[in-house]
Amino acid sequence: MSAVLLSTHGLVARYGDFQALYGVDFEIAAGEVVALIGANGAGKSTLLKSIMGLLRVAPDMVRLDGRPVGGAKPHKMVADGVAIVPEGRRLFTGMSVEDNLRVAIDHAARPREQGWTLERVFGLFPMLREKRATPVQSLSGGQQQMVAIGRALLNQPRLLLCDEISLGLAPKVVREIYQSIPSISQTGTAIVLVEQDVGLAQSASDRLYCMLEGRITLTGRSSDISRDAIGEAYFGASHAVA
Ligand SMILES: Nc1ncnc2c1ncn2[C@@H]1O[C@H](COP(=O)(O)OP(=O)(O)OP(=O)(O)O)[C@@H](O)[C@H]1O
Ligand SMILES: [Mg+2]
Repeated sequence: MSAVLLSTHGLVARYGDFQALYGVDFEIAAGEVVALIGANGAGKSTLLKSIMGLLRVAPDMVRLDGRPVGGAKPHKMVADGVAIVPEGRRLFTGMSVEDNLRVAIDHAARPREQGWTLERVFGLFPMLREKRATPVQSLSGGQQQMVAIGRALLNQPRLLLCDEISLGLAPKVVREIYQSIPSISQTGTAIVLVEQDVGLAQSASDRLYCMLEGRITLTGRSSDISRDAIGEAYFGASHAVA
């Protein structure tokens, strides 16, 4: 396995008085696809937000290339090669597909190391080329998700954090979007997939983490983990199916 790209160490995160993460140890190597599953409120988005610098955490709790980066500002993390496709997509409504994508190009804080261009994003999602002049709010949910992924890729990430990119989409569209994952990881970009659909998470990833109530309850190679183990880690031992 290649060297660890990003890791968290005893990561603790809070929203005011509420503690959402209790000592999370997580790691991902260059080019790896890692799924992160868990029930509503388990802490998946909080883990991504902590990595991205959107929540205040101690420096040593997040390491990129072995360097402490916990609590660094989001724009600094983007410049260091970490990009997020956030929950709910957050596109610029009133702007066309192309203009949404160009925002990332114009503000690119990184050299074009990963080689993503507008043309390559259109190659990944051909539908976006046809709709390039369309305002994003007129697109379907799946097409909007493609714009959100494309925009993140134009930041030339070494690590792409995807928060529930399949949520609310029809199965055919989910397949289309997930087909892009291997093409993205082949460029050397590591991908974290937060995913509610456990079967999809398992089949699309090299390794998997399950969270429950702010803790990691299971980790391993996705192909080796049994459905029973996932059930227990997902719901807690007391709720495991007999
Ligand atoms: N802004 C916030 N303020 C206070 N508490 C929050 C905030 N965001 C999340 N939480 C709480 O932190 C915990 C973890 O939430 P988080 O959003 O990380 O879960 P999640 O695993 O992403 O869930 P979901 O699948 O619903 O997206 C939950 O108990 C949630 O209610
Ligand atoms: Mg979430």
